[in-house]
Amino acid sequence: MAARNMWKSYLLWCANEHVSFRIPEVESVLAMYKIPHTWIEKPEENPWMLISMPSEDCAVKLMKRCVTVRSIIELWAQSTTKEHLDDQLKTLPAEFTSYFKKENKFKVVVDIFNKVISQEEKIQKIESFSYLPILGSANLKNPDVTYYYYEFFGLDAGRIPENPFNYFFGRWISDSERTAVAKYSLKTRHFIGNTSMDPQLSMIMANLAQIDNGHIVVDPFVGTGSLLVAAAHFGGYVCGTDIDYLTIHGRMKPTRAHQKKRQPNEDIKGNLKTYNLFSRYLDVFVGDASTPVWRSNFRFDSIITDPPYGIRESTYKVGSKKIAPIPDEMLSTHFPSKTQYGLGDIYKDLLNFAANSLKLHGRLVFWIPIIRMEYDPDLLPEHPCLETIANSEQILNLHSSRRLITMQKIMEPKEAEDSAIIHNLQYTFRHKFFNTSEIKGHGKEDESARNLTKRSKRGNGIAKLPCDK
Ligand SMILES: C[S@@+](CC[C@H](N)C(=O)[O-])C[C@H]1O[C@@H](n2cnc3c(N)ncnc32)[C@H](O)[C@@H]1O
Repeated sequence: MAARNMWKSYLLWCANEHVSFRIPEVESVLAMYKIPHTWIEKPEENPWMLISMPSEDCAVKLMKRCVTVRSIIELWAQSTTKEHLDDQLKTLPAEFTSYFKKENKFKVVVDIFNKVISQEEKIQKIESFSYLPILGSANLKNPDVTYYYYEFFGLDAGRIPENPFNYFFGRWISDSERTAVAKYSLKTRHFIGNTSMDPQLSMIMANLAQIDNGHIVVDPFVGTGSLLVAAAHFGGYVCGTDIDYLTIHGRMKPTRAHQKKRQPNEDIKGNLKTYNLFSRYLDVFVGDASTPVWRSNFRFDSIITDPPYGIRESTYKVGSKKIAPIPDEMLSTHFPSKTQYGLGDIYKDLLNFAANSLKLHGRLVFWIPIIRMEYDPDLLPEHPCLETIANSEQILNLHSSRRLITMQKIMEPKEAEDSAIIHNLQYTFRHKFFNTSEIKGHGKEDESARNLTKRSKRGNGIAKLPCDK
């Protein structure tokens, strides 16, 4: 490995959506591939990160997984003024100027964040670097080297400054796996339902779960199987359970406008086939997450899931208040009755299942709905065998959001473990969602209301209400 003083600096240029998922995603991939690195700058909101790594191979490896980042650039210069940026570029070391040789056809890309500029202005900006002794000819279609120039005009679309806050210049190394997201778009997916998860978020979940080639992955609330698609994309062998037979086998009413009947094979298996991922499909079957059916000595590499929040319909599990034995002759045709499955119990069962069924160091990644004004990270579900690694928020509406929690199994339970700790917040979410006057601090949400409106105008990842079963 290169000595630390030989490491290079890289700019991660990020997409302007799912902002709070960026750092956890990148950190998860760095840890998964054990990529040596030192952070230089890791702003939470700005669309870039600066990192130092030993080699270009590390940069490419990182990009093979990330979907919140657009591309990675070998950073040659950065500044808060153009003059200072130019000064640095005029005195570049030989390791960079060697790219300027005659044989290298080149292209320059100008990317301006939070300001629209004309093509002429772009060309002027490119020409402002004419002092660089680049000897090769320009070639926009098939360049050997692509230079990137970025200007960052802040995050506030309502107050764009005269000059950028930051300037960056460097050599493009790789685009990210974000280019694969479009392939999984729900608009063109063979089988979807009203619970299908956005493909980008599904891939972020797979990255947080560190799903790798050959891993065995389960979703205990599998629904239409969107999370399995992302897990299979990254090489996981996938399976899942759901209590709803109609959903899991694609027999529910079509959710697409103008579609009257489901097509043959319009189900989870069909999706994996259309994406050429069928070799990764283990199975899905009807099962109740409150009573896992898996062999007790079996261990999964990861669990990724989006449990039902009980907003559109109540959640349920197999059970009954009456305890009446079923006569033997009726057992084979008996449909068990169902009972309420409160959110608190859902998370208690999920964490206990993870503690018992994950491999050591395996990860559980799940969504949990939150009343924003009452949110307290100390009141998230806990388990002595699981350590919280990441926690990112996606805002749903004025008073609620959902948080994506990543946990890692840190020890084996002594015996079948049932020690999850669930706080009142999880038990009361559904009630408060529908009775907002009971939310602590209700009526004081004007500030967040303003921010929300501003952000949603910028298309900044404010989610619609969760599509629950
Ligand atoms: C939010 S949806 C999951 C959506 C899924 N990620 C998808 O892409 O379609 C929650 C799912 O949990 C299922 N569910 C509800 N109660 C359950 C239970 N006790 N056991 C297993 N699944 C259950 C619902 O039928 C629903 O499909």
